[in-house]
Amino acid sequence: MQIPVTVVILAAGLGTRMKSRKAKVLHRAGGKSLVQHVVDTALTFTPAERIFVVVGHQADEVRRAVTTPGIGFIEQQEQRGTGHAVMVGREPLAGLGGYLMVLYGDCPLLRPETLQRLIAAQADGSSAATLLTADMADPTGYGRVIRDARGGVAAIVEQKAATAEQLAIREANMGIYCFRADLFWKHVGELRTDNPANEFYLTDMAAIFNRAGFSVEALRIDDAREALGINNRLELAEVDRLMRDRKLRAVMLGGATVEKPETVTIDADVEIGMDTVIEPFAQILGRTRIGENCRIGAASILSDCELADDVEIGPFTLVTSSRLERGVQAGPFARLRMDNHVEAGAHIGNFVELKKTHMGAGAKANHLAYLGDSHIGARSNIGAGTIFCNYDGVRKSRTTIGEGAFVGSNSTLVAPVEVGDGAYVAAASVITKPVPSDSLAVGRAHQIVKEGWAKKRRERK
Ligand code: UD1
Ligand code: CA
Repeated sequence: MQIPVTVVILAAGLGTRMKSRKAKVLHRAGGKSLVQHVVDTALTFTPAERIFVVVGHQADEVRRAVTTPGIGFIEQQEQRGTGHAVMVGREPLAGLGGYLMVLYGDCPLLRPETLQRLIAAQADGSSAATLLTADMADPTGYGRVIRDARGGVAAIVEQKAATAEQLAIREANMGIYCFRADLFWKHVGELRTDNPANEFYLTDMAAIFNRAGFSVEALRIDDAREALGINNRLELAEVDRLMRDRKLRAVMLGGATVEKPETVTIDADVEIGMDTVIEPFAQILGRTRIGENCRIGAASILSDCELADDVEIGPFTLVTSSRLERGVQAGPFARLRMDNHVEAGAHIGNFVELKKTHMGAGAKANHLAYLGDSHIGARSNIGAGTIFCNYDGVRKSRTTIGEGAFVGSNSTLVAPVEVGDGAYVAAASVITKPVPSDSLAVGRAHQIVKEGWAKKRRERK
């Protein structure tokens, strides 16, 4: 039987070395807050009801940064050490049984597989706890792992309290533990603050268990970088880079082509379908989902978008929180600003801006237009230079264009206004009144021609 795992994520610290007004776990890497990364990792092996985040500094902001419903929070008013951070959770946690896993909110690179291995290692033996360790070329700042004759963990000694001999140990504590919950809560009260920092060190649990006659085991990982905790902006950049690399690899192994991947930014939660091609310098952000066989042009930026199959985004195109159906073409140099829905096969060309606009199937706006707060029917054509005047200085109004309509170049449609199905708007018209279906509206001054005028003028000179 699978033993349930409760996860406690320590995230109460400020992170002084970030030199930031923002709590450390609120900083983002790979396009997501650090704390949310750790929550997402925990969610791969345990349900939200068994995940708790210990909050302290900027508790409200950290709560808000965790977007998954059902996650629990534990308030640690005063940060009195890693041991204290778990101790204050006794009320909701002690009753849950199974295993108690401790993770850090500033350790976003840990892979689910590694934590699964940690749980498996704990389930395998009879120890009270298993912890993650790694041999490091430079373990400065980390707790050192003191092994006993049997190869178990006798104790963990923090940098500040270590002897010269202990400092020479290269095996470092990654700070990730899987405890037997019953034994943890039975013995956690034995933690003391008799150390240089005057804190409750969670690491002291190793020695406490040994004293009580229980063994503690270590699972050594090959690459300490996976457990890299972020302390400053340099490490944040490093983790961001590692995450981006990891994501790019996953995207490419998943069947998308990424040209010059070192220039491309793809956020952690993005999904990209097979045979889609991502050109250099593209940024694909947030919760964007891209279908199969799409092309994302060079230097385009997509955030929180949904693209069906066969969509083509030309170079230098910005698309935000919009839905593009099958075969849509947008760009180069287009901007789909917010909440647009573009139906199958529609075309949006260069220097066209869309905002809160629904574009019907096969509709076209190929050049130089502002189309805001509007509904454009299927197969309609919006000429170059068309402007929907959606704002009168006080309120926003809507423009509605029917199906198969034709709006001539350089037209100005003053909203609220409606153009019916199959209607024509003559080029350069200013439209302020409804245009009925199948009619032609001409809203411009009549052209006057004065024959010979230019010739006479030249002769006068
Ligand atoms: C800890 C370990 C050390 C290990 C290292 C790995 C202890 C005493 N030491 O040291 O052996 O090598 O992690 O990175 O545990 N936190 C709280 N409340 C507190 C204190 C800390 O929420 O009262 C959070 C911090 O915000 C941070 C995490 O716990 O995310 C780790 O705390 P930190 O002080 O950075 O521990 P280290 O000194 O790195
Ligand atoms: Ca740390």
